[in-house]
Amino acid sequence: MTEDKNKKTEKTLKINGVRGMNDLLPADAGQWAHLEHVLRDLTRAYGYEFLRTPIVEATAVFQRGIGEVTDIVEKEMYSFEDRLNGEQLTLRPEGTAAIVRSVIENNLIYEGPKRLWYTGPMFRHERPQRGRYRQFHQFGIEALGFAGPDIDAEIILMGQRLWDELGLKGVRLEINSLGQADERSAHRIALVSYFEKNAAALDEDSQRRLQTNPLRILDSKNPAMQGLIEGAPQLLDFLGEESLKHFNAVQTLLKANNIPCKINPRLVRGLDYYNLTVFEWVTDELGAQGTIAGGGRYDPLIERMGGKAAPACGWAMGMERVLELMKVSGSLPDAAPGCDIFVLHQGGETLTAAMIIAERLRSAGIDTILFCPPDGQSASFKSQMKKADASGAAYAVIIGPDELAKNEAQIKDLRGTGEQRSVALEEVLEQVIDALVGSSE
Ligand code: HAM
Repeated sequence: MTEDKNKKTEKTLKINGVRGMNDLLPADAGQWAHLEHVLRDLTRAYGYEFLRTPIVEATAVFQRGIGEVTDIVEKEMYSFEDRLNGEQLTLRPEGTAAIVRSVIENNLIYEGPKRLWYTGPMFRHERPQRGRYRQFHQFGIEALGFAGPDIDAEIILMGQRLWDELGLKGVRLEINSLGQADERSAHRIALVSYFEKNAAALDEDSQRRLQTNPLRILDSKNPAMQGLIEGAPQLLDFLGEESLKHFNAVQTLLKANNIPCKINPRLVRGLDYYNLTVFEWVTDELGAQGTIAGGGRYDPLIERMGGKAAPACGWAMGMERVLELMKVSGSLPDAAPGCDIFVLHQGGETLTAAMIIAERLRSAGIDTILFCPPDGQSASFKSQMKKADASGAAYAVIIGPDELAKNEAQIKDLRGTGEQRSVALEEVLEQVIDALVGSSE
């Protein structure tokens, strides 16, 4: 090739994926399938129903749902204008506001409370790092229409059961109560006055938050601010009798179920819809992005989104983080074994016979790969056999011209003895079933 031919034109240059948005590669697909399987069983065990909302929603769903003065709405949303009608749209950054939008629109809690679950990609324009992506996947549950502390405790039990099922150790539960709006207002006044007295010690972000959302100053990760935050008035001290009763009842139920938890008075969560119970599950194994799941009660949201007031609570977990933690804890399942049968042939009539056999095997529920030559022509049995071995198949079915002339095929054991024997073509299916059943006993 001349140098000129080597030069890539704009049309042939490689196009990469978007930063912070990852492919799910075949090598990892089995692990995701395992996690999804466990999640499906978990939701069934607690009577949750599946609800899928679109990836794109009107921007207002999140502005109003999550709150204007949150990191997500202020700087992390992928928003754009519909090019035809000018509608403001957003790739969903989380599931809860969208689920509530759908529940209201479809009248889903008209006849009583509902337990719902969802899963899918979410989008946040954050700086990508380990465990933090711009497209990530959440599994979430939302229990709508339940007011008591029993459901708060039950959704937490559900999370604990999940970590146990997945073999995750060292996941800690942190819990707090955000009380009700009037309690937060009283706390806010005390907080603003405290931070105003110490204004010189506030970083730039916190000075801005002091005007807009002072509670979020408590969420600051800036080490220089930690001393000041430690000394700030605590919301727990401003909770009234009802809120404390709810919080205590949740803790009593958790204790009765042997779920240890730590009260973290600084846990405020990054979304504005919460009241009363909030919680997060954290681990030290994943570096800076150690929160694998979080949630809480959000009684004001349904009314705020235009529905008839109804209480609700739920949580969501980051699937990438949970899978990463499973990897670190060594609790990922072994890779799934390969297919059952790999069918080899020499093209022409042998291909026709091989394809018919492969289809017959698949109809019987046997996972089968038919060799297809990369050049569209043919390949030696030796190179096909290498592919058969690499496929992880238990047996190879070989149909060459000699076999076909005798109306036969060869069956070769790939995982065990390597034995190879001839069988009549019409008996291949029966023989393969016998061999597979025999090797699984
Ligand atoms: P969240 O805390 O914003 O809550 O997100 C839930 C989980 O999603 C986090 O704990 C984390 O594991 C994962 N996550 C968040 N951002 C990223 C990211 N950029 N990359 C990877 N994983 C991430 C919510 O979204 C609420 N809707 C939870 C909820 C449900 N509250 C009540 N119901």
